[in-house]
Amino acid sequence: MTATDVRPSPDAEAVAAAVSAALRTVDANIDAFGDRYPADTTTGGRYPFRPPSAGQPRGANVGWTTSFWPGTIWLAYDLTGDERYLRAAMSHVDSFAIRVARGIDLDTHDLGFLYTLSCVTPARRSGDRWARDAAVAAADHLMTRVLEPAGIIQAWGDLSDPRQRGRTIIDSLMNTPLLFWAGETTGDGRYAAAARRHAAQLREHILRPDGTTFHTFYWDPETGVPLRGETEQGHADDSCWARGQAWGIYGFTLNHRYTGDPALLAAAQTCADHFLAHLPADHVAYWDLVFTDGSGEERDSSAAAIAACGLTELAGAVADPARADGYREAAARILRSLVDGYSTAGHPAANALILHGVYDKPKGIGVDEGTLWGDYFYLEALTRATVSDWTSPW
Ligand code: GLY
Repeated sequence: MTATDVRPSPDAEAVAAAVSAALRTVDANIDAFGDRYPADTTTGGRYPFRPPSAGQPRGANVGWTTSFWPGTIWLAYDLTGDERYLRAAMSHVDSFAIRVARGIDLDTHDLGFLYTLSCVTPARRSGDRWARDAAVAAADHLMTRVLEPAGIIQAWGDLSDPRQRGRTIIDSLMNTPLLFWAGETTGDGRYAAAARRHAAQLREHILRPDGTTFHTFYWDPETGVPLRGETEQGHADDSCWARGQAWGIYGFTLNHRYTGDPALLAAAQTCADHFLAHLPADHVAYWDLVFTDGSGEERDSSAAAIAACGLTELAGAVADPARADGYREAAARILRSLVDGYSTAGHPAANALILHGVYDKPKGIGVDEGTLWGDYFYLEALTRATVSDWTSPW
């Protein structure tokens, strides 16, 4: 066979076309949003500016999803090496540094999402001191949310809020990488100890014996006794919110990467096996895994994108080559379905990368729309499929 006989596989061609289409949308959004931020989700397929909130004006850096925008731009840089993207991604560091310095909208465990993608990446890559100090300050703030004696990180709200006190959520597994990084950069072992304990508590209580997960779980803040699971964005307390299960696949895998704890790897596999066994024909999960084809419910493309990334990461961690191949192939099927059926390549009016996500169906927020995090993980999955020596920000 000569070099000219070596053609890209259909998947590789589809992935390359999808990357080009995504980058065109990223370019347009860099021009449209500048140093401000899109909303959490699209409305009718288009992101407006982030609405005013927490005393901040339209387009300000508030809420839990703003870092997915610079995170997406960093991926564009990884895909192209084009310094325009480097400059655009770096231009967001100031906003995140100011946010943590001024204490703007910090009552959330999602400081991990926020500061890993916006500030840890530049700190790791170029030693940027301003970014590094902002990310350490965010990690310090996250540490104030560790509740003893339960050893969990409270997810939402003011620590004295009775509705949120003692509550954590499966998504938080994606926030502990900030703590592991802070431990590495400062040499202070308290960060990793807190993250490790939190992940172990979630493995024990948020993961159910049947391989499904609770979205949220409460501990007694005084005694540390585990109390009960409850949903917030899922269909029912005892159902399995699809995005939560996807956070479980990726989050348990990442926590295993930092700790080496085999129980966390087993938990990630359990989440993955249940998720994959409950996919509809086109491999893109409905917003809760109790629903399947014929239910008339919406899919959550963001859960699919997160799972595609998590399954790829998991494939790199499991020892059994057959299981690793199975996870890698499942990730490729999901990504291909997103490219073919959910991307905005043929929708010139849309400014998301993928459509048909669900933010919060019970509250009717962002239903059947694009989401900032879905776009980020879609482009991360495309990057993983394109750049063989890609370095994860997580
Ligand atoms: N982390 C919040 C969500 O997934 O909706």
